[in-house]
Amino acid sequence: MATRTHQPSIPLTEIEQSAFCRTEDQLPAKSLAEEQAVNVRWQDIPAQYLHCSVEELDQRIGIAKKTLGKSVTILGHHYQREEIIKYADFQGDSFLLSQEAASLAEAECIVFCGVHFMAETACILSSSNQRVILPNITAGCSMADMAPMEDVDDAWEDLESVLGNRGGITPITYMNSIAGIKALCGRNNGAVCTSSNADKVMEWGFQQSGRVLFLPDQHLGRNTGLKMGIPLDKMVVWDPFKAMGGNTTEQLANAKLVLWKGHCSVHTRFSAGQIQAARERYPDIKVIAHPECPMETVDAADFVGSTEFIRSMINDAPAGSQWAVGTEVSLVNRLAINNPDKLIFCLDPVTCPCSTMYRIHPAYLLWVLEGLVGGKVINEITVPEQTQVEARVALDRMLALK
Ligand code: 13P
Ligand code: SF4
Repeated sequence: MATRTHQPSIPLTEIEQSAFCRTEDQLPAKSLAEEQAVNVRWQDIPAQYLHCSVEELDQRIGIAKKTLGKSVTILGHHYQREEIIKYADFQGDSFLLSQEAASLAEAECIVFCGVHFMAETACILSSSNQRVILPNITAGCSMADMAPMEDVDDAWEDLESVLGNRGGITPITYMNSIAGIKALCGRNNGAVCTSSNADKVMEWGFQQSGRVLFLPDQHLGRNTGLKMGIPLDKMVVWDPFKAMGGNTTEQLANAKLVLWKGHCSVHTRFSAGQIQAARERYPDIKVIAHPECPMETVDAADFVGSTEFIRSMINDAPAGSQWAVGTEVSLVNRLAINNPDKLIFCLDPVTCPCSTMYRIHPAYLLWVLEGLVGGKVINEITVPEQTQVEARVALDRMLALK
């Protein structure tokens, strides 16, 4: 048996998650020095950027972007702050951003305003002469941190020893994972998925074998399995801190879906109780949630989908409609500002931005852009050649499924 039985440790990104939680709605940027005063551990940056006012940062970002022209493309995930997303040449959910990264021919450099696994994916999908930059190198993802490579390698070895190494189980990883896991999926006849295509990819996975290992988000895996009609008693959770993930050989043999024990610290805050409270307060409310939310929340919601699904559903809704939204607050606030004729609010009254998406402060964007103006590439994301090749196989399988 390969599984290590070490002590669980909580990712730092998870601990920092509450640093910027607050009860008022808006989260305007402050200077980087002021934001870091709440004791977060972000990447060091030259002192001259630390104390720049938000207005100065904004002005200088505009100048640097204009100077760089088409040689640089800025990609922005929907969870980015307002002060960042306004500079994105393209914004989207993880799937659209990966498609965009794969199709950008003109840009010599992609500045990815999102989190580390997204920039890594852009690096794998873009052409070899393009450089990918993540403005703050510590912008990771607490969920991705819950599936370190050595734990996943151990688990895969254990699963193959119990279920056989030829078609006993198909590995499917959510985009929110390190490149090494995508590579493991690529070389073991598996695939990558995002929240916008998890059902299609899982269906494909079941065509390859009768069983799927889904990493690293147990909630997206469970919600997708239930949507496909797989009963809960055919799902087991793999806890990397327990021998055999905490399962017997019989339980694994009986399972159709093995769910890695990971979660998103932002989306597990949304509850069925909050939905009930919103419905009591606003009887006509529609509730829309991201599939990283727990099963009970997804069950109680009216609509469930990716950030792009949430964005277009609310933008296209009739004037006067009312929406309680179970996803990251920067996106919810943006939707509320852009749709003043609708009532839009975050399901959780204590609004918490994703602490790692939030690490892309305008000072970091300015730092990397001015670096490029001066001919210097700061925070380039690279992926070892072999990992790139194997991860690309798993990503291409997803992209081919549409
Ligand atoms: P989307 O693919 O829906 O944009 O989700 C990415 C993410 O990290 C959600 O927490
Ligand atoms: Fe990761 Fe959750 Fe943040 Fe998405 S919202 S990047 S899953 S921590």
